[in-house]
Amino acid sequence: MDFIIILTIILSVLPMKSNGANNSFYHYYTYLWGTDHFLVDPQGTSVQLKMDKISGGAGFRSKSDYGSGSFHIRLKTPNKRTKGIVTSFYLTSNPDDGTPQGNHFELDFEFWGVDRRVQTNIFLNDGGQREQRFHLWYDPSKDFHLYQIIWNSHQIIFMVDGIPIRVFKNNSAKGIAFPNKAMHVDASIWNAPFAGPVKWSQAPFIAQYQDFGFTACSARAKSKNISYCSSQIYFWNKPKYWELSASQKQQMDKYRKSYMFYDYCSSKTTWKPECPLNA
Ligand SMILES: *[C@@H]1O[C@H](CO)[C@@H](O)[C@H](O)[C@H]1NC(C)=O
Ligand SMILES: *[C@@H]1O[C@H](CO)[C@@H](O)[C@H](O)[C@H]1NC(C)=O
Ligand SMILES: *[C@@H]1O[C@H](CO)[C@@H](O)[C@H](O)[C@H]1NC(C)=O
Repeated sequence: MDFIIILTIILSVLPMKSNGANNSFYHYYTYLWGTDHFLVDPQGTSVQLKMDKISGGAGFRSKSDYGSGSFHIRLKTPNKRTKGIVTSFYLTSNPDDGTPQGNHFELDFEFWGVDRRVQTNIFLNDGGQREQRFHLWYDPSKDFHLYQIIWNSHQIIFMVDGIPIRVFKNNSAKGIAFPNKAMHVDASIWNAPFAGPVKWSQAPFIAQYQDFGFTACSARAKSKNISYCSSQIYFWNKPKYWELSASQKQQMDKYRKSYMFYDYCSSKTTWKPECPLNA
């Protein structure tokens, strides 16, 4: 009890910088690929990823795997307009070692390189195809904005600058899958065939990232039972995070009505059973 009180006091006097912890890239992340297309400043406060015609882009990943958490990063997309260049921030249970993509869990933010589009997607130990796409209400290549994913055993929340834009609830009682395996964080720039042909004359394309510190429950052993990560010693597992507040729901509805331009739930051919359960 005393420990919790002291911790609360410590946390409340720390600066508002995310969790007050070490915010350095090196503390949380490691290179994944394209190291020659990477630029990290010596303090690890910012990272640039470069995509050009001779490279496959670049990416980094968290050092650990996690079973729940409040994940975020600030990023700025390339300031050139072309299809085909995707800048991403996501969680995935897929191994990075080139193993063929099997069924896995994944929670995505993907920026499409044209206008202001961001795609969110969710894989539930399957091929995904739960896309919801938004026109952002600002130019994501002009300034850094905060992209956040909260994952607890009750729900997953996608947020942009603190505004919830998508919620996926744990409806396992109704037969809907929900992530139950450890995931790690990935961020990358790459040439995604699904996003259309690239105008290479505009290259190079540079994505910038900042604000690397996040708080999450480390999975002790990859892909093993992560049920201990729903402990309420972690703030994102507390009842406050089990459901959005009434005002957050209102805010989300407003932003979804105004800015969502594609929803897999809107078409008979892409609809899935969870669709009415997350509304
Ligand atoms: C932050 O973490 C990095 C990498 O682990 C380390 O080199 C650095 O000294 C840490 N900075 C502080 C202020 O703790
Ligand atoms: C989903 O919720 C159920 C309760 O309805 C719980 O038993 C289960 O552990 C949760 N699943 C995950 C993966 O957190
Ligand atoms: C995971 O561990 C918890 C607590 O130890 C246990 O109750 C639960 O049955 C386990 N789940 C699986 C799928 O093994």
